[in-house]
Amino acid sequence: MSLLNIRNLTVCDRRTDEILIKDIHFEIDSNTCLGIVGESGSGKSVTCKAILGLANPWLEVTGQVLLEGNNLLNAEQETLRQIRGKRICMILQDAMTAFDPLYTIGCQMVETLCENGQYNKTDAKIIAMETLQKMYIREPRLVLKKYAHQLSGGMLQRCMIALAMALKPDILIADEPTTALDAINQREVIEEFQRLRQITGMAMIFISHDLGVVQHLADKILVMKDGEQVEYGPIEQVFEKPQHIYTRYLLDTRKALTKSFHEAMKVRRSNKC
Ligand SMILES: Nc1ncnc2c1ncn2[C@@H]1O[C@H](COP(=O)(O)OP(=O)(O)OP(=O)(O)O)[C@@H](O)[C@H]1O
Ligand SMILES: [Mg+2]
Repeated sequence: MSLLNIRNLTVCDRRTDEILIKDIHFEIDSNTCLGIVGESGSGKSVTCKAILGLANPWLEVTGQVLLEGNNLLNAEQETLRQIRGKRICMILQDAMTAFDPLYTIGCQMVETLCENGQYNKTDAKIIAMETLQKMYIREPRLVLKKYAHQLSGGMLQRCMIALAMALKPDILIADEPTTALDAINQREVIEEFQRLRQITGMAMIFISHDLGVVQHLADKILVMKDGEQVEYGPIEQVFEKPQHIYTRYLLDTRKALTKSFHEAMKVRRSNKC
């Protein structure tokens, strides 16, 4: 039995009858990573929020979200709340909304670690500092004293990743977790995700616009377009023999981009000589 099995997941906006995502299905096991790609508005975030019971009340979610065989769509709110903290963590796309503006980052990290990671307060403080350091935050003590509005988007994203990593859930859902970081920091944080997966054996769902990142991290890939999944399979297979025209377009665009980058670099080098 798979750790997480998504079957026919469909989300409909009751207010307008618009179908936001339709018949999504995939499976994920421990120590594997599924990459989800697709253009803006294709339904990646709605899919992940629906899995965790975080979709807005006006959205009707149908299908099955089986965590070790138990359908989370039928679970009580309290059960879901516990699963969200301990078993499945989500790094939200918009880091600003993830933190309460009224409490410091440190207060929120320590509270979450005590509640879900079952640490005492002293240990939780140490773990919060250590994980922030792993996320390349140089002065974690200062950052923990700040409120969300006092930190940049990139810094908040790193705090959120650090918290999820410290909780070491069975499944980590990361919704474009590195968009607010510059290229060098992105690379370091991606390496940290890879390392964490190797150490903990956690399963990961990694949403990204960047096919290179997905190729680096994921074992399987799911491609979404207009709320539907157009391709799903092992990463090598999809990259070598994409079946859907949209996947081929994504891969060709990436090739064209990297080609023009290499050519530009060649020109720069020859100009220097
Ligand atoms: N809470 C909501 N209520 C109604 N419609 C929504 C809601 N959230 C998203 N949508 C709509 O659902 C569709 C999918 O949105 P979603 O945010 O999942 O896209 P996405 O693939 O994550 O895009 P991006 O790459 O920009 O993050 C869009 O048409 C969006 O407008
Ligand atoms: Mg999104």
